[in-house]
Amino acid sequence: MGTLEGKVAVITGGNSGIGLATAKRFVEEGAYVFITGRRKPELDKAVEYIGKNVTAVPGDLSKLQDIDGIAAAVTTTKGVVDIIVSNAGFTEQAPLDTLTPEHFDKTFNLMARAPVFLVQKLLPLISRGGSIILVSSAMHVMGIPNHTAYAAAKAALRSYARTWAAEFKGRGIRVNTLSPGVTDTPILDSQSEEHRRDEVVRMYLNMIPIGRLAEAVEIANAAVFLGSEQSSYVTGADLMADGGVGQV
Ligand SMILES: NC(=O)c1ccc[n+]([C@@H]2O[C@H](COP(=O)([O-])OP(=O)(O)OC[C@H]3O[C@@H](n4cnc5c(N)ncnc54)[C@H](OP(=O)(O)O)[C@@H]3O)[C@@H](O)[C@H]2O)c1
Repeated sequence: MGTLEGKVAVITGGNSGIGLATAKRFVEEGAYVFITGRRKPELDKAVEYIGKNVTAVPGDLSKLQDIDGIAAAVTTTKGVVDIIVSNAGFTEQAPLDTLTPEHFDKTFNLMARAPVFLVQKLLPLISRGGSIILVSSAMHVMGIPNHTAYAAAKAALRSYARTWAAEFKGRGIRVNTLSPGVTDTPILDSQSEEHRRDEVVRMYLNMIPIGRLAEAVEIANAAVFLGSEQSSYVTGADLMADGGVGQV
């Protein structure tokens, strides 16, 4: 029997990278997963790859009506949620000298605002034993140039985990952040202005004690732990699966 047998999970950004690997691992562990994302063809491919026990719900999380749509689809199809993995994200770099309000709002809308309303809308469906996993980043404890908005939005998630863990006292719902280090996913293609993935990877490799990037499945395994009863006494915490990059 898997560690997530019979659980229902909602995984945002479940059509790519860490979210897709998490959805696959959750289903292998016995869960039913709802995956979300904006790109319908990528959602279709993800459903085929995951193979069973999966429903794709398209939506742009920066729009409140799309978050309502996701919650409505989960309510209609299953009526319960055991695990939320708030994972959707993107990176866009901006030095402070030229940072625009549009860049700031886009970053905060998706990575700091959307998780609040996603969790709020799904909360009535979660009961005792529930686990909320907010995918942050090792960057929330680091100072990496040009990531003013990204790192701050990720730090906001760390704060939500502390607040909600306290707010849900006695309700049996745990909340934690999962903070990946540099992980080999499509997001790395957007980390340099010229889309020079190799340069970005070389820069980060110099900083990572384990000496390599993470595979998405290694982050997914940490999500399985946080979603399952194996982490039953863990709440308000930050699990850094970062190869040590945020520790040294
Ligand atoms: N990879 C890393 O090195 C790393 C390190 C630390 C933290 N993280 C965090 O891990 C999470 C997953 O990243 P990843 O590396 O797996 O990147 P990825 O492969 O690029 O996946 C990003 C996901 O977010 C979804 N998404 C983006 N904008 C969205 C929007 N407006 N509405 C709904 N969904 C949206 C994308 O789907 P659509 O494009 O179809 O919408 C996609 O599924 C992110 O929060 C990221 O910040 C990643």
